[in-house]
Amino acid sequence: MSDDRMESVLKEERVFPPPPSFAANALIGDMETYRREHRRSLEDPDGFWAEAAGELDWFRPWERVFDGSEAPFFQWFVGGKLNICHNAVDRWADGEKRDTPAILWEGEPGDQRQLTYGELKTEVSRFANVLKSLGIHKGDTVAIYLPMTPELAIAVLACARIGAIHSVIFAGFSADSIKDRVLDADSKMVITGDGGWRRGSVLPLKSVVDEGVEACACVDKVLVVPRNPGGERMACEMRPGRDFWYDEVVAGVSDECPCEEMDAEDMLFLLYTSGSTGKPKGIMHTVGGYSVYTYLTSKYVFDLKPEDIYWCSADIGWITGHSYIVYGPLQNGATVLMYEGAPNHPEPDRFWDIVDRYKVSIFYTAPTAIRAFMKWGDDWVEKHDLSSLRLLGTVGEPINPEAWMWYHRMIGKERCPIVDTWWQTETGGILLTPLPGVTPTKPGSATLPFFGVDAAVLDPEGNEVDAGLLAIRRPWPGILRGIWGDAERFRKTYWCNWDGRYYFPGDGARRDKDGYFWVVGRVDDVVNVSGHRIGTAELESVFVEHPNVAESAVIGVPHEVKGQGLVAFVLLRGRDAEGSEELRGELNDLVAKKIGKFARPEKIIFSADLPKTRSGKIMRRLLRDIATGQALGNVTTLADPSVVDSLKEKYQA
Ligand code: WTA
Repeated sequence: MSDDRMESVLKEERVFPPPPSFAANALIGDMETYRREHRRSLEDPDGFWAEAAGELDWFRPWERVFDGSEAPFFQWFVGGKLNICHNAVDRWADGEKRDTPAILWEGEPGDQRQLTYGELKTEVSRFANVLKSLGIHKGDTVAIYLPMTPELAIAVLACARIGAIHSVIFAGFSADSIKDRVLDADSKMVITGDGGWRRGSVLPLKSVVDEGVEACACVDKVLVVPRNPGGERMACEMRPGRDFWYDEVVAGVSDECPCEEMDAEDMLFLLYTSGSTGKPKGIMHTVGGYSVYTYLTSKYVFDLKPEDIYWCSADIGWITGHSYIVYGPLQNGATVLMYEGAPNHPEPDRFWDIVDRYKVSIFYTAPTAIRAFMKWGDDWVEKHDLSSLRLLGTVGEPINPEAWMWYHRMIGKERCPIVDTWWQTETGGILLTPLPGVTPTKPGSATLPFFGVDAAVLDPEGNEVDAGLLAIRRPWPGILRGIWGDAERFRKTYWCNWDGRYYFPGDGARRDKDGYFWVVGRVDDVVNVSGHRIGTAELESVFVEHPNVAESAVIGVPHEVKGQGLVAFVLLRGRDAEGSEELRGELNDLVAKKIGKFARPEKIIFSADLPKTRSGKIMRRLLRDIATGQALGNVTTLADPSVVDSLKEKYQA
């Protein structure tokens, strides 16, 4: 946990009540209602969640709201039948919102597309029929590796429609990462594209997939979606019998495809995320609870109204995009904006230009993006009319009060509430958050629990403390149902503290006198780089694959824009112990190849030794002290104190 952050949040005293004009029109506009409903959601969770679920369509009602008898394998809405695609698409397409825009899309080069709910239903149904025609059935796993085009949302919804389990892989991941995820999930098909635009160049997605699935016997089809529907295709090598162009197979396919009746506890998707071992975990989410939870959180946290233009700048490759671009907002019938590319292409004002042109009213982004905007300068913001904005949000990492204040002043013009939302891939949806019409906000605090969430800050023995480990006392509908293929790791990671009575998210937190939560960061070996979760163990196992590397230790250090950056200490074998620029380059390439470019460390330090305890355990704490230039903590257990001095010298060189 970062001491800097602890220091800065301890000093933060500013409070910003919701603007009265916002509160007056908000879905929930007073603290009394929040408190009463929150209390009710804990005292009568079955009643509360039944009511929320009742706002969605069900093919068959549930028999029991909750079943905890097989804890920690919880079940929600037991016996109920529904389909999230029906609630996100058909419910609106078959009603008054048929001609309301569901998705407004802008490509990085400036091309635009718009899909009404009616059109979205047609596209999703056709896509679903293509999946079926290529042999995909309910329960099959489909990997999706696409750029941020409407087809990514359509592919995800099409899988949900027919009951296939989607496993979206962020399009910045490498071929090796695709391979690991495809094999672990036993995916039968990979959906990819001919390319996508990022910072002025085309990502060669198809060739990355080809390399990734080379050794994956489970994959028998690769579906390639052209980036420019009806336009020119980008060059791709196609393997006969395995690879299919979407525009060719879709020709003549029916646009009628009924939604599969899914059991509430049938799998909806897998999403891989980093943990504290080298192997990413496939986080499992099921249909019923996830539908209800993303629906209700979107509604109240973003205060969604029919006239809103809602923009979440995340990628659908991460959980934020799953829950708050696709499923949550669409289940509310919202109009969602999607943008394909980089925030600084062609100029650093691209986002504000988009807000201005599309009259975006709700904007949800990450602290790392906010810090980049701050660095690029206010002029880029001031060029644009941002008066359409009424609500701002952040997610992904702790936001430093300075960035919060800039967001509040420069983007929100001091009239937009900011919802700092804390949650995780595992939680499915937002757990700690202000309600924008209700909660007085404090810069850097995710404030209070959402309905149904009973959060606490505990010491390892389970006593409530002011600063310690974040814990969630009872399950909520959106909670993960497990780690794919690894029940033991699921128990160990999330349920081993406090005799399994609390969910343990792996974060440290502080609670202030008003009961507000201040999440300070991970307490395990997961580092949050620009909002991307990276396990240090994943990098370490990449480095030791290099023949010259004997051992390595990777740590996270504070970084001005990225939040945290990675520093690698690398112990070399034999002769090459000095290391070289060439070797540094090779190691960087190896990380790019094995994980993805976004995981490359800021700094690689070659060393003849690492600080270890007498029993041989690497003392990462000391490495962190060295990297942050702090006085060294307790060194009494260090086997060879001279190691630290030589590392310090190297680090500063
Ligand atoms: C961190 C992203 C502080 C936290 C939705 C968590 C945050 C991890 C916040 C999950 C926030 C996310 N304040 N920390 N508002 N939001 N985090 O799975 O450490 O990519 O455990 O989910 O991000 O990252 P993930």
